[in-house]
Amino acid sequence: MFVGEVFLSSFFEVVLDKLVATPLLEYARRQKVESTLEDWRKTLLHLQAVVNDAEQKQIKDTAVKMWLDDLKALAYDIEDVLDEFDSEARRRSLVEGSGQTSTSKVRRLIPTFHSSGVRSNDKIRKKMKKINQELDAVVKRKSDLHLREGVGGVSTVNEERLTTSSVDEFEVYGREADKEKIMQSLLSDEGHGTGRKVRVIPIVGMGGVGKTTLAQMIYNDGRVKDEFDFRVWVYVSDQFDLVGITRAILESVSGHSSDSKNLPLLEDKLQKELNGKRFFLVLDDMWNQDPIRWSGLEKTLRAGARGSVVMVTTRHEDVASIMRTTPSHHLSELSDEHCWLVFADLAFENITPDARQNLEPIGRQIFKKCKGLPLAAKTLGGLLRSKHDKNAWKNMLNSEIWDLPAEQSSILPVLHLSYHYLPSILKQCFAYCSIFPKDHEFQKEELILFWVAQGLVGGLKGGEIMEEVGEACFHNLLSRSC
Ligand SMILES: Nc1ncnc2c1ncn2[C@@H]1O[C@H](COP(=O)(O)OP(=O)(O)OP(=O)(O)O)[C@@H](O)[C@H]1O
Ligand SMILES: [Mg+2]
Repeated sequence: MFVGEVFLSSFFEVVLDKLVATPLLEYARRQKVESTLEDWRKTLLHLQAVVNDAEQKQIKDTAVKMWLDDLKALAYDIEDVLDEFDSEARRRSLVEGSGQTSTSKVRRLIPTFHSSGVRSNDKIRKKMKKINQELDAVVKRKSDLHLREGVGGVSTVNEERLTTSSVDEFEVYGREADKEKIMQSLLSDEGHGTGRKVRVIPIVGMGGVGKTTLAQMIYNDGRVKDEFDFRVWVYVSDQFDLVGITRAILESVSGHSSDSKNLPLLEDKLQKELNGKRFFLVLDDMWNQDPIRWSGLEKTLRAGARGSVVMVTTRHEDVASIMRTTPSHHLSELSDEHCWLVFADLAFENITPDARQNLEPIGRQIFKKCKGLPLAAKTLGGLLRSKHDKNAWKNMLNSEIWDLPAEQSSILPVLHLSYHYLPSILKQCFAYCSIFPKDHEFQKEELILFWVAQGLVGGLKGGEIMEEVGEACFHNLLSRSC
């Protein structure tokens, strides 16, 4: 799984931080295992230098993959031991801090402290011995894998802060002809004579090609605003929830929110609102292939006036075919020229003309990997925006992630790459979000609390508060989204 594949570099940070935590180290000193922990830290630092390269190479090299899997298991074992030490250290400081006499209330509350402590120490020592042997073996195997040090990845959250202000103000390239073609069909009488059915215009194209962007351009065009009594935008996604969609349209049209889950009631209300009005409805990101479900919604929408339009965006012609009343508009990839502009706008932002001249030849090779997909061009441009060093650009061009066979990855290589180049702390936080279903809405505070509770927001510097670091992580991730 994607998260598991790439988790190690970030997990390393957590373990390394634990290895320098003060209460634990003091306890380790008393237990005379301090030097072992120091050896572990040095070895992990040494291995960490090649983990990024290994994470890329594992895609094609099974020996590297096995080595990484073993290293991951070992890192978890180390963390286990450190956690045991940590809780023992805390327990001990609690007892000692509570008073020196044996009549201490706390000491009486933990009567078995001494005996259980000794027993568990034996167990831990055995575990530590095993870890030492396994670490030696992992280090030896590493030399056969020819891994390079310091490839990709960056390790601090504050190393770059990208602005979010431009997210909604980007320039759209090369879609004027598509837009005008759809506008003509939208504003003409064509398709009105299809009986009582609502007119449906689908925009079909692969993920990230720009369907939603094109639909937004049309939705916001002055002619559309003038032509229709009202416009409604509903984001549908992979769950075609008839109740939710009907309610969303009703709320938008009536301006009142509703908690009702009663479908017939909602349908009735919506029909009354739509009655005699000409509406323009966008159903964005449709996946539903069940004609019966669609006809349930379509029946309600028929209450609108003749000339009402539903515009739907979808990746699949099969989805469009059960809804359309006019031929689908197939959205192609951007031309090289336009795709380059999308890439260059971001990649060369805030850069001197000299630096741009130096990087442009590599940029021209890199952007070809985007294959005309604006999502890929934006992602790559955004990744390179903060990197002014030619070697970083070359590394990206030569990344093995480009060679990932399509069947091994359900995501575009360029998106895999953008994950790879996240600072490690952000990798963990981002990967954690994969436990939520697609389009799950969560509160920022709730997510940050989850991250904190899971120990993902580790490595605090002096005076830092976890929730604040979590907040910085959140905004950093947000600023990287397209
Ligand atoms: N013509 C364009 N010029 C510049 N940027 C674009 C263009 N088209 C799309 N983009 C950008 O590319 C990204 C993906 O576009 P969009 O969300 O419209 O794709 P999509 O086809 O709807 O993808 P999905 O199938 O995942 O819903 C967005 O960040 C958008 O800003
Ligand atoms: Mg979309």
